[in-house]
Amino acid sequence: ALSPSDIAKRASALRAAEFVEPGMRVGLGTGSTAAFLVQRLGERLRSEGLRIRGVPTSARTADLAQAEGIEVTTLEEVGWLDITIDGADEVDGRLDLIKGGGGALLREKIVATASERVVIIADAGKRVGTLGAFPLPVEVIPFGLGATRRLVEDLLAGADVGARQVELRLRDGRPFVTDEGNHILDLRLERIGNARQLSLGLNQIPGVVENGLFLGIADTLVVGRPDGGAEVVD
Ligand code: A5P
Repeated sequence: ALSPSDIAKRASALRAAEFVEPGMRVGLGTGSTAAFLVQRLGERLRSEGLRIRGVPTSARTADLAQAEGIEVTTLEEVGWLDITIDGADEVDGRLDLIKGGGGALLREKIVATASERVVIIADAGKRVGTLGAFPLPVEVIPFGLGATRRLVEDLLAGADVGARQVELRLRDGRPFVTDEGNHILDLRLERIGNARQLSLGLNQIPGVVENGLFLGIADTLVVGRPDGGAEVVD
């Protein structure tokens, strides 16, 4: 049986799947909520013949989509996307987001910014007043990692944040490696006072590839409830 939060995640995914129309080029997000979406698109393919071209944001999602029989292609192939549907780790009242808990933020951000419409699917627990309780993922190049980390720490020293702890993400005792071959620094900030300034400052550091702040990118939020309903917020 699904947990209440999984029921809410699935409810948001089912509602958002209704935005997908035949022939669309669809960015497919990463994570447990996005997995419900991919499943639903597979069901619609089998039940009503819904044909789409899907651009996955991770190797994991590519495998899921293929298993559902969805036509998987690349952003290069389609050029631009009609819609992207993806999860998030935090969403605030302006629909600004923290993403990257699953480590796919770089491809997610490229895919989202190449989309006519970006729909975020989430359970109510992801909604916050101020971003930052969830650690902010920052994708960094392995070369010069120590120096990059020091520059990130220097930036945080002068930033309007609630805490300043930087951790290299590990998996099985080794640095976590992203689909693009990079590492992730998780920034424990508790509260981000000025997300725009922080995002610009981080991306100014040469060893930083991208950060998990998605600002002004989401158009629509679909919040699922544990009773199976969902609310659409534009
Ligand atoms: C992946 O890199 C993240 O951006 C996910 O979108 C985020 O972690 C949401 O995951 P869940 O849907 O599993 O909560």
